[in-house]
Amino acid sequence: MNFMKAISLHDKEFVPFLSEREIQEKIEALALQLNNEYADKKPIFLSVLNGAFLFTADLFKQITIEAEVCFIKLASYNGMTSSENVITSIGLAANIVDRHVIVLEDIIDTGKTLQHFLPQLAAHGPASVKIAVLLNKKEARQYQVDLDYTCFDIPNKFVVGYGLDYDGIGRNSKDIYQLK
Ligand code: XMP
Ligand code: MG
Repeated sequence: MNFMKAISLHDKEFVPFLSEREIQEKIEALALQLNNEYADKKPIFLSVLNGAFLFTADLFKQITIEAEVCFIKLASYNGMTSSENVITSIGLAANIVDRHVIVLEDIIDTGKTLQHFLPQLAAHGPASVKIAVLLNKKEARQYQVDLDYTCFDIPNKFVVGYGLDYDGIGRNSKDIYQLK
């Protein structure tokens, strides 16, 4: 795909927003920081599927300290009013008791997903939990979540690419696009 061009996915048009190069530079800087801060901590990276899979892979390749990675899948129902509408569809397989956990998320929007998940995670008895996100839609926040590492603060507009999808497609773009 040519990053300078708009792309069409289903019925919508998307315009270039963050290039592969900008994304990879931020991830490299984050990896450096984590390699320093977690040097003797043997952290576990906990990646939230599906969206964070590319972010996780690119970051983890640049982690040079002893570290583990595992995955969970969280899903939220759309169009329901209940605040209990975030479900865990693939649970936590790793033992995180007394371990330093770094949660990896592709994007934080309202904050609902993480606000529901973090207490569940805390109940497993980790030594510490920090949150690293690729994209932060600050203005969209409805549920307070403290982020420890943010690669990009972005406006409240729908984005796709680099793991993020529009109705199932667009995840396999190296760059990130914004709804036109
Ligand atoms: P909350 O509101 O729980 O949302 O913080 C987090 C989840 O919502 C999805 N999301 C997006 N997915 N483009 C996407 O492809 C977006 O612009 C977008 N905004 C939110 C995503 O699954 C994320 O984990
Ligand atoms: Mg996600």
